[in-house]
Amino acid sequence: MDHRAERIQNAAEYLRSQLQGRQPVVGIVLGSGLGKLAEKIADPIVIPYRTIPGFPVSTAIGHKGNFIVGELGGKTVIAMQGRIHYYEGYPMELVTMPIRVMKVIGIRNLFVSNAAGGINFDFKVGDLMIIRDHINLLPNPLIGPNLDDFGPRFPDMTHPYDKSLIAKAKEIASQMKLELREGVYIAGTGPSYETPAEWHFFRTIGADAVGMSTVPEVIVARHSEIPVFGMSVITNAAQVEFDADYKNDGDDVVIAANAAADKMSALFEKLIESL
Ligand code: HPA
Repeated sequence: MDHRAERIQNAAEYLRSQLQGRQPVVGIVLGSGLGKLAEKIADPIVIPYRTIPGFPVSTAIGHKGNFIVGELGGKTVIAMQGRIHYYEGYPMELVTMPIRVMKVIGIRNLFVSNAAGGINFDFKVGDLMIIRDHINLLPNPLIGPNLDDFGPRFPDMTHPYDKSLIAKAKEIASQMKLELREGVYIAGTGPSYETPAEWHFFRTIGADAVGMSTVPEVIVARHSEIPVFGMSVITNAAQVEFDADYKNDGDDVVIAANAAADKMSALFEKLIESL
């Protein structure tokens, strides 16, 4: 067996042994500062990444490094309280391994979230943005021999984010009187934040929000034809002219994400309920 597939299968087998017979149907990736959605999961089983054989460990701020399995919106879910980023130094194979492990476990939908910088001038700190599409500036995680058991060599990417989930999310948000933005997420490697010229470039090529994650996970999920719903929480806004003392700061990002986490959690819960 391919060493990557073997590693995924071993991790999935261990994870399954910890699930007490539960069958998660929705996978959720919780971004920077958004881990508190996990607190809404009832009857939780906590499985730290470090206990899973061959599994990477998240080292980023605002990322705890646990799988939380339990009930949310009437479904059994498996949430990643903390993700793995390319900027942590992990190869793409490990950045995206958790998605394939959840695929083997049997998830049928994937919800991804992140903290992102606003590129679109209309966006304010604390806004929630439905990810309609993405631009990938990270290495493609499918580079290398194809894992045929997971999907085709040249997977389609014309429908990265599920249209019916987006439509349902908008409907639910309007019932909740929750304002949603919608746009294109662009992912770079980080860990340095963008220069003003890069911000301008990203706006010019059609991006609305920028971050350092999510897209590799979505590519790997779509490789296996898992429908994806994605959401960015805008944690810092683009300026026309940055003040002399303006600074992007990771701690501020986590604080802003945390403040918006309840809104996003409520929406995710209702959307999962509607599945
Ligand atoms: N840039 C990149 N990643 C981010 C940002 C940003 O401004 N905010 C939160 N994550």
